[in-house]
Amino acid sequence: MRRVFLLIHSPTPSPEFPLKGYASGSRRFDVVARVVLAAFHTGKGVRSDTELYVYLSDSGKTLTLRPSSFRGVEPREAEVLSTLRDMLKDASILDFSQLLDRVVPRNYVRLYLTEKGSSVGEVLGEICRAPGVVVALGGKEDVPPDIERVLDSTGFLAVSIGPRSYLSSHCVAFIHMVLDGCGS
Ligand SMILES: C[S@@+](CC[C@H](N)C(=O)[O-])C[C@H]1O[C@@H](n2cnc3c(N)ncnc32)[C@H](O)[C@@H]1O
Repeated sequence: MRRVFLLIHSPTPSPEFPLKGYASGSRRFDVVARVVLAAFHTGKGVRSDTELYVYLSDSGKTLTLRPSSFRGVEPREAEVLSTLRDMLKDASILDFSQLLDRVVPRNYVRLYLTEKGSSVGEVLGEICRAPGVVVALGGKEDVPPDIERVLDSTGFLAVSIGPRSYLSSHCVAFIHMVLDGCGS
């Protein structure tokens, strides 16, 4: 099982954000929508092995997305944004440590994706042997320092996936490809 934490630092948009002109009107929630698409959608339908938690650090809201969240939702940014907008209305509010306690099993490998980390290749064996993997990463902006400290103190390994700064959605797609290759 894969659990992805997308950690958003920018202000939480209103649950009424417009679906027209959404990039500016949604405080760049289009970035979140692209991560959702990368996390769940394959060329042949929705992945059944993934959960995504979008943690909005300024409001403490968490949007929880599971494969079942996408029944009947077309893999298009605008449709995903409409789903996210509905979720914003009654999202649970937790602090980040509480969220980790609730949803991260103890025996999962914990990865924090950061350009400052050591190479993901160094932990590939550990990742492939684990019963599950938790991956935390930033959105348009990096993970804020207070949350980075929580990751550091709760056993997340800081790993880099390459020499450049990549889009969050590309990082998620890359991690899926690495994990998909574990069995082969
Ligand atoms: C678009 S980046 C955030 C802003 C970017 N770090 C900057 O300096 O402008 C999105 C997130 O993807 C992850 N990321 C990007 N490149 C990475 C890399 N080479 N290795 C590991 N994680 C990376 C990090 O979690 C980062 O916060």
